[in-house]
Amino acid sequence: MSKIIAFGNQKGGVGKSTVVAMTASALSQAPFDIRLCVVDCDKQKSLVEARSFELEEDETPPYPILALTVEEFQNQIHELDKAYDLILLDTAGRLDNNKSAAEQEITKLLLYADYLFIPFRAGSFNLEASLEYLKVTLELQTLRKDKPRPLQVWGFVNMYKDRSKTNAFLVSEIDQLRNQGIAFMLCRLRNYTLFEEADTVTSLYDVNASNKAKLNFTVWLNELVKILKND
Ligand SMILES: Nc1ncnc2c1ncn2[C@@H]1O[C@H](COP(=O)(O)OP(=O)(O)OP(=O)(O)O)[C@@H](O)[C@H]1O
Ligand SMILES: [Mg+2]
Repeated sequence: MSKIIAFGNQKGGVGKSTVVAMTASALSQAPFDIRLCVVDCDKQKSLVEARSFELEEDETPPYPILALTVEEFQNQIHELDKAYDLILLDTAGRLDNNKSAAEQEITKLLLYADYLFIPFRAGSFNLEASLEYLKVTLELQTLRKDKPRPLQVWGFVNMYKDRSKTNAFLVSEIDQLRNQGIAFMLCRLRNYTLFEEADTVTSLYDVNASNKAKLNFTVWLNELVKILKND
């Protein structure tokens, strides 16, 4: 059975699509060569659009990016499961404050996911929205606890900047959450131009990289792969 990994946060602009693209590009090519697809569930279709500009006519991409609504994804799950070993979901994930965890749109999608990775980014109002999202997903995790496919929720820091006060604050908040037993990745993705300009094709994974950004991504991806293997 394929693994389904969702990236979500109700806060916009935290790097969901960017990290999905970087992860998919790396895992679909050497040394991983995983049969994977990306499902773009966001109405903005930013990954589908990005991909459409990137490939020459005769080029085959290392993995496909499919634009599916939640309902379409539900209907196609069995075919996707057969065709791919890994499915990465770029979710829109806005929460409706009037609804319970079980009624949220994102819940329908996450019902199928084995993992949810939540990017956290420091900045005004940002953390609060991310924490609200984390709370809802933890409720969902409790709902899924006794199911054959429980949901693992992992937070991680994206766009980390040294010497930034908001980042120092974010890190201390996350340490507190970690002390409460909430899983966070140890490696932080930093703020790099290479990430900002990441496309949907090029792998940035390189264990021998001298480039700081590539090295940061390589360490981060190794940690992610370890999480996926520790099932
Ligand atoms: N680690 C990073 N370093 C530098 N820039 C980054 C990094 N991660 C993301 N970005 C940039 O931040 C912006 C927002 O990222 P992205 O579009 O991936 O966020 P998103 O969470 O998918 O947003 P949306 O909610 O609109 O879908 C983009 O311009 C992207 O290039
Ligand atoms: Mg996006």
